[in-house]
Amino acid sequence: MNRVPALFLCALLLGSAASAGDVTYRKDIRPLWEQKCMACHGEGSPYLAEFDENKDRYKELNRGPRMDTYANLVAFVGWPDSGALMRRLDDGSNTRDGEPGNMYRNLGDDEVERQKNLALFKAWVGEKGWVLKHFDELTRKELGRMRVAE
Ligand code: HEC
Repeated sequence: MNRVPALFLCALLLGSAASAGDVTYRKDIRPLWEQKCMACHGEGSPYLAEFDENKDRYKELNRGPRMDTYANLVAFVGWPDSGALMRRLDDGSNTRDGEPGNMYRNLGDDEVERQKNLALFKAWVGEKGWVLKHFDELTRKELGRMRVAE
């Protein structure tokens, strides 16, 4: 008599544990971004097209392209700058040359912190959506695996 409710309760608990762990922009990525990325990618930064036109100048100023909202950030995940976030943040496990992307070091002061924050970005994009390809190489299926919950 008690077995069914007990099993049901287990399933509920497992289910809620999984959803509580869902990584979202508002809850997890925004605070991390403010801490680690905003100084160089905030509202004082230009949008990508303007950045590209004057890349050398902005690099000198230590300004990267602007990523200060959810929409401005996901443009570097799915489209138009597909895979840019993953290429730059990867620790070398998925890059072509085995070297970390050049923004990986900004993820933390030491390896433990960098790995922890990389794991958070990966969980946000989705382990299967962590694809480093440019748009022209990307399949629709791969694009569909990028989750980036708001
Ligand atoms: C100290 C300044 C600085 C910090 C901090 C920083 N960046 Fe950058 N970022 C830059 C600059 C400058 C560029 C452009 C030069 C280049 O392409 O390397 C750049 C480029 C990028 C690009 C490539 C954009 C493109 O052109 O496609 C991505 C993606 C990126 N950063 C993500 C991040 C993320 C995510 C963080 C936080 C974990 C971060 N950056 C922290 C300065 C910074």
